[in-house]
Amino acid sequence: MTEDLDALAKQLDREHVFHSWSAQAGLDLPVIAGGEGAVVWDHAGHRMLDFASQLVNVNIGHQHPAVVAAIRAQAEQLATIGPATANLQRGQAAQRILGRAPTGFSKVFFTNGGADAVENAIRMARLHCAERGDTGRDTVLSTYRSYHGNTGAAIVATGDWRRMPNQYARGHVHFFGPYLYRSEFWATTPEEESERALHHLERVIQSEGPSTIAAILLESVPGTAGILVPPPGYLAGVRALADRYGIVLILDEVMAGFGRTGRWFAFQGYDVVPDLITFAKGVNSGYVPVGGVIVSEPIAATFDDRVFPGGLTYSGHPLAAASIVAALDAMESEGIVDNARRVGEEAIGPGLRELAERHPLIGEVRGEGVFWAIELVADRGTREPVGSDVIGRLKKELTGRGLLPLAVDNRIHVVPPCVVTGAQVAEAIAIYDESLTSVEEDLF
Ligand SMILES: Cc1ncc(COP(=O)(O)O)c(C=O)c1O
Repeated sequence: MTEDLDALAKQLDREHVFHSWSAQAGLDLPVIAGGEGAVVWDHAGHRMLDFASQLVNVNIGHQHPAVVAAIRAQAEQLATIGPATANLQRGQAAQRILGRAPTGFSKVFFTNGGADAVENAIRMARLHCAERGDTGRDTVLSTYRSYHGNTGAAIVATGDWRRMPNQYARGHVHFFGPYLYRSEFWATTPEEESERALHHLERVIQSEGPSTIAAILLESVPGTAGILVPPPGYLAGVRALADRYGIVLILDEVMAGFGRTGRWFAFQGYDVVPDLITFAKGVNSGYVPVGGVIVSEPIAATFDDRVFPGGLTYSGHPLAAASIVAALDAMESEGIVDNARRVGEEAIGPGLRELAERHPLIGEVRGEGVFWAIELVADRGTREPVGSDVIGRLKKELTGRGLLPLAVDNRIHVVPPCVVTGAQVAEAIAIYDESLTSVEEDLF
């Protein structure tokens, strides 16, 4: 009976659901019917460790009872409301978010997800420049190794391949950020990488013309591109360049924010304060779709008397707002962000480094908190990335052993919920170990 439900879910999915970023024929996706904490299961009860946090968003874990109860209570009181209203839950959600942000941030603009948060942050930055008399600043600088969302402007700000079929707007220029393992700058130390990447960025700013640039848009820790933890001084150096040339600094915390790095915001580890912060995913762990922009006081003031030409029907939806309040309160009272930090330091980091010593397929492991990548190479000397055949094989081995993986390009991202336990990490490390061994037996 329960197997029938799994079969029906697969059949309906194959026949009627059009999926993101995929050729549609031949998709065979895992059925997920339920979950708790860092574990999910299908209708038949086959259990899997969710080391993808779905799409790196279920920070608080599956089915947190306080968040589920808050959504249920809100649905019973008022399930929806228009944006041009004052709503208690919306105000409380904004207050809770601002409570984790640095001083100097006063407002939150709510969106439906991460991409439209980025869209609106760019819009705010451009208009802020124009309002202070700096007309002609519309260019947005972002890195090639980035993902900022799939809507119009956000997708062309994206650095990876998804930009190309969507590229129609002017006003976006890309540069290389730091990535020591595959340095574009012939650097051999993190300090060199940081210094040279900053020199490169300054030359791009000068060559484009500083008076044409509205914003630098960066993921504090680039996620989809490979968990590229910034080297010492880099983000603070970008802040200094933004100040020198009158550019708005937007830090995209959609994936890295709300606990993933073991801090409320990833940038809080890097001695930098941006002008705008984008968020989504971890703010309520995706229980209801939501995102937004946290706005610093000077930029908020730009729109005190000037109309902000942007908006969404569901901006500050009450179900999303109630889930944010409950999620952030539970994360605070249960020490969930601290758990992410501790598990990263004590279990994931040491476990992955130990695997890297023994497995020739691993070129590098890197990360912090519950935000890690295993970079797989065909040859450790040349660092040639493995092909999709190897990644496909590894995914099968991992899934077969009860771990839901996140594979991106030549990497496996190790990104469990922030509530993951040391025992679950140990179980996962053993599964990565066995799966790598099995694939390596055929390769080396
Ligand atoms: C850093 C970053 N920005 C923006 C987005 C887009 O968010 P969404 O898929 O909610 O539109 C993502 C999604 O993964 C992301 O990782």
